[in-house]
Amino acid sequence: MSSQADKKLTRRWIRPLPKQVVNKIAAGEVVERPAAVVKELVENSMDAGADRIEIVIEKSGSSAIKIIDNGCGIDADQIEIAFSRHATSKISGFDDLNDLATYGFRGEALPSIASVAQFRMVSRTTDADVGQEIIIEGGVLQGVQPIAAQVGTQVEIKNLFFNTPARRKFLKSETTEARHISRVATALALGRPDIGFTYTLNGRKIFTLPSGQSSAERVASVLAPRERFLPVQFEGEQATIEGFVGPPQLAQNNRQSLYLFINNRFIQSATLAHGVMSGYGELLPPRKFPVGAVHIKVNAGEVDVNVHPTKIEVRLAAEREIHDLIHRAVKEALRSDGIIPTFRSSANAHSPSSSPSGNSASSSHGGRIRGIGSPQPVNHQFFKELFENPQAGSVVLTSSSENDQFSVNKETGEIIETGENLVGHETASGAPAGPTDGFRLIGRFSNLYLILQVGTDLYIVDQHTAHERVLYEEMVRRVDEQSVNGQQLLFPVQVELSPTQMAVYVEAADLFNSSGFTISEFGGTMVNVEAVPVILAKKSPEKILLKVIDDFASLRKSGLDLKKAMAQSMACRAAVMSGDRLNDKEAEFLIESLLQCENAYACPHGRPTFIKLTRDDLDKQFGRG
Ligand SMILES: Nc1ncnc2c1ncn2[C@@H]1O[C@H](COP(=O)(O)OP(=O)(O)OP(=O)(O)O)[C@@H](O)[C@H]1O
Ligand SMILES: [Mg+2]
Repeated sequence: MSSQADKKLTRRWIRPLPKQVVNKIAAGEVVERPAAVVKELVENSMDAGADRIEIVIEKSGSSAIKIIDNGCGIDADQIEIAFSRHATSKISGFDDLNDLATYGFRGEALPSIASVAQFRMVSRTTDADVGQEIIIEGGVLQGVQPIAAQVGTQVEIKNLFFNTPARRKFLKSETTEARHISRVATALALGRPDIGFTYTLNGRKIFTLPSGQSSAERVASVLAPRERFLPVQFEGEQATIEGFVGPPQLAQNNRQSLYLFINNRFIQSATLAHGVMSGYGELLPPRKFPVGAVHIKVNAGEVDVNVHPTKIEVRLAAEREIHDLIHRAVKEALRSDGIIPTFRSSANAHSPSSSPSGNSASSSHGGRIRGIGSPQPVNHQFFKELFENPQAGSVVLTSSSENDQFSVNKETGEIIETGENLVGHETASGAPAGPTDGFRLIGRFSNLYLILQVGTDLYIVDQHTAHERVLYEEMVRRVDEQSVNGQQLLFPVQVELSPTQMAVYVEAADLFNSSGFTISEFGGTMVNVEAVPVILAKKSPEKILLKVIDDFASLRKSGLDLKKAMAQSMACRAAVMSGDRLNDKEAEFLIESLLQCENAYACPHGRPTFIKLTRDDLDKQFGRG
């Protein structure tokens, strides 16, 4: 304490810090952990025009990091200067930042790293007969001398943070550091498929990638060799979005498998990552994150990379717009192929507006008949009747093959088998139960899965999730428009809620009462139910209210907006269940309806509505060819 006071009283000189101290302080920002060293050194190699880069890591970087490249090398008389602070060959004035073509520009990576490690570099240019070796330890030059060397540059870092014990102590376990390094190595490799990379971690070869790969080959090599990624290609006013995203079933528990690049630079951006995630929408199961490499190309003047010494954060002039572009690009990619059905609904079959979504990649896909038509709200006659004529007992649709009737019990929301026309509605005009030339229903399994053949592919549809999706999209619209029909109960029912359920109800009372329920408070935690939504009317009003309140509470907790939570709960409770047998027409009808959904590929909880097995998949399983 007293020494603090003494310090305050003493008059002291203001003077510049010694260069080693400055570099050590800068190192605190530039090299947070071994992974950052790898990034800086490999970026230097890329800036040097290398087309082969080798990364060797020992003891997760705490023992040694070696980067070897075949780039242009450093001239003998320049090598010492490379370690001076703010010495760079990449820019000569601030304006150069507006048209930056290199990863580095600050001239501080080498002096920073060399100040907190034992640093050895050997470099040779094509013009030189020999290379130069420079050794620096903790920022202190140990020597420079000629040495026999290949053209290019090799850097060897040993004992990182040996002289900054606090930083060394804060390093995480070897496994964690290895994970960070691997992510950076993967990102660097994804950013530059033209460059060949080898990456060896703790004695194990993690990847060897040839130079001159295409983006698709690189993605397949480093992200998930056996999975089919979906190409993203979208041109907007402010940016071009390119790359590949994984199908939803590849989604991970953390955000680490999504790689974003701006003008080939690996960056981190919560906003842009959100753009990708929101493009998946409900296709992503809760708390899952997509896999992919998304490249954003913008004019150099539109992006400021001089935000942080690590250059991993950037500022974008049109961040919001680019977020939206990414959202659209990813959505389009997911719609266009892969997880997208390779069949179309017969309802769309003759409609000129049902042209494929326009992605050339999709049309090249084997077995594809046509892509799904442009998104349209579910506005099926079936559902119109179902929702708009609560008085009618059932809606009957007649297929184009005369008298082949089937019905849907609107009271439960279930599609049920019936031999006759219960109500005698006229055939719904334009009802899509016509010839299903896009797919053929070939069977069902366990009264849950519907089996379809489409071209040479096999589709397995989960009837519950499919129906849930169909109902959900309609309910979202209706909840929003406050047009959910209610069914008056013959006798109002009093329901006792728990205090928590009561709190949920009170908070959302208006929403309940504009979504087909008529509920009033009855004193204490008792409520009086006079009407319930038509699609749920077959079930016990008490049970349905309690279930919807409970669903609603948990969906709300998971961040879903109130109206969507309401729609989701109602759709889930009304959908056909496993075990409900659908006849052929009902099943075809359900699939037709599903195909008209905006997002036909997953139920509102993110579970898939169908999976696809190609002839190739089966042939592989059976060891054919
Ligand atoms: N592998 C390499 N091959 C050829 N030259 C290199 C290599 N590594 C570094 N250099 C040279 O050394 C200089 C200093 O490198 P350093 O990483 O410190 O700065 P920078 O890359 O210019 O900027 P930044 O600090 O933003 O990375 C570079 O400008 C480059 O000329
Ligand atoms: Mg650099």
